[in-house]
Amino acid sequence: MTEQTASDLYLDLMAAVLTRYGFEGSNNTVNVSTGSYAGYLWDMLRDELGDGSVRLTRTGKFNAAKRAEGKDWPADAETMVGLRRLTNIRTCVETALADGVPGDLIETGAWRGGSTIYMRAILAAHQVTDRVVWVADSFQGLPKPDARRYPEDAGDQHYTRDELAVSQEQVRENFKRYNLLDEQVRFLPGWFEDTLPGAPIESLALLRLDGDMYGSTMVALDNLYDKVGSGGFVVVDDFGAVGACARAIEDFRSKRGITEPIEKIDWTGVFWRKS
Ligand SMILES: C[S@@+](CC[C@H](N)C(=O)[O-])C[C@H]1O[C@@H](n2cnc3c(N)ncnc32)[C@H](O)[C@@H]1O
Repeated sequence: MTEQTASDLYLDLMAAVLTRYGFEGSNNTVNVSTGSYAGYLWDMLRDELGDGSVRLTRTGKFNAAKRAEGKDWPADAETMVGLRRLTNIRTCVETALADGVPGDLIETGAWRGGSTIYMRAILAAHQVTDRVVWVADSFQGLPKPDARRYPEDAGDQHYTRDELAVSQEQVRENFKRYNLLDEQVRFLPGWFEDTLPGAPIESLALLRLDGDMYGSTMVALDNLYDKVGSGGFVVVDDFGAVGACARAIEDFRSKRGITEPIEKIDWTGVFWRKS
């Protein structure tokens, strides 16, 4: 076994816990399609029970391959991105630290907060006290598609998914669970188009985009890309999973003449490093 430092062990443990990797018998959230018969029945059942916190989960066997790639949707984990994309966050942040790339870290689209909790854990593991982790989210799920401004989002159904709405209080509790909520964590609650233009962020070493939709991806890039310094990283969670997100990335890169190669993390995640 190769020698591991206490900080390696801590970060590996954090990644495993935040994804619930290896927790046998973990439940998975069942995605019921809106408009399907099952969706109709599920809506009726939820109305009958009168409680928005009721969730439909399948008790299943833990699937290591799926969880590593963030291909299932864990019922309890603080992140759905899986191990490989957490490892990518760690590599980006540690590279930026080693190379002295200045700036904070942000995720636009945090859900239960797991990726941002991991960012804060990485700063803690390296005893970095002069960088902030920004957590940008509506804390009420995704917006209705604005097909007039972003035709690529027409028909997008993400906004109907109650499971994607996690309150800021809940995310703060999730940070507290790991003793990682402090003044180095700052929240930008609200729709990106309202919060990102005036966000008091000076510079970024990591811009992690996880807003799924064309509009959410484009608004984040338009407002934050220029804050990413040379040597900083842009990570896109939904490039492979959501066609509209990939189109936003391609459109932005072509309008800004960005030629740094896009590198693959797993089946959906990609990143590039600003030269
Ligand atoms: C797929 S989840 C993010 C998953 C998360 N990064 C993780 O580690 O598991 C997408 C999140 O983006 C947020 N979101 C998407 N578009 C948004 C927008 N335009 N403004 C604010 N929040 C948005 C949603 O509220 C949701 O929490």
